[in-house]
Amino acid sequence: MRQVFFAISLLLATGAQAQVTKPIPRSKATPDHALGLSPGSVFDVPAPPKFKDEDSAPGEKPVLKRINSEFPPMIPHGVGDMLPITRASNLCVDCHVTTAPRKAGEPTPVPASHYVDLRRAPGVKGDKLAGTRYVCTACHVPQTDAKPLVRSLDRP
Ligand code: HEC
Ligand code: HEC
Repeated sequence: MRQVFFAISLLLATGAQAQVTKPIPRSKATPDHALGLSPGSVFDVPAPPKFKDEDSAPGEKPVLKRINSEFPPMIPHGVGDMLPITRASNLCVDCHVTTAPRKAGEPTPVPASHYVDLRRAPGVKGDKLAGTRYVCTACHVPQTDAKPLVRSLDRP
């Protein structure tokens, strides 16, 4: 019985191995110099392409397209002179924690979720911004004009 078991495992193992080590035809393999974020020879000294941070004023540009409603929307305006967020100063709060209605060109009011203390009272909308939402840039980020270094294979 033991020997039969051993023989079967050996068969399976060699079968699996044969599949893993099946060589990729040379014509289909990606050449070494085309791999990585900086394709080229390892002896090259590539200069990273320059990029510019978003520096528009709030409300100057329209909001960015959302990937889905669960993700933190990206910041469409510059944030350079609003950072760092400190205990004494949070300009994001000054503009966005508002009861004013949502209107294009005006600060988007933070959503109801940002008033919920998930640890102490989940499901209850409090009357002030939850502490866990204070550092907005932990989740929301602006964009740069940097082009992707390599094409994402799942995108055209
Ligand atoms: C001077 C006021 C002001 C300040 C300060 C400010 N914002 Fe904004 N923010 C705006 C305006 C205006 C818009 C554009 C809303 C629109 O046109 O619908 C906006 C848009 C956004 C959006 C996009 C919302 C959406 O619906 O897609 C996010 C996210 C955002 N801001 C986050 C931040 C964060 C984080 C900070 C702090 C680093 C910040 N903002 C500071 C005014 C401000
Ligand atoms: C822990 C991550 C996190 C933090 C911190 C956070 N947000 Fe958000 N924010 C989200 C997510 C996720 C969404 C989208 C889902 C939702 O509405 O709850 C969102 C949505 C928003 C929206 C869109 C509202 C709408 O009606 O479409 C605004 C504006 C916004 N946040 C501003 C802020 C500001 C300003 C701060 C800081 C005071 C902040 N957020 C802190 C994760 C975060």
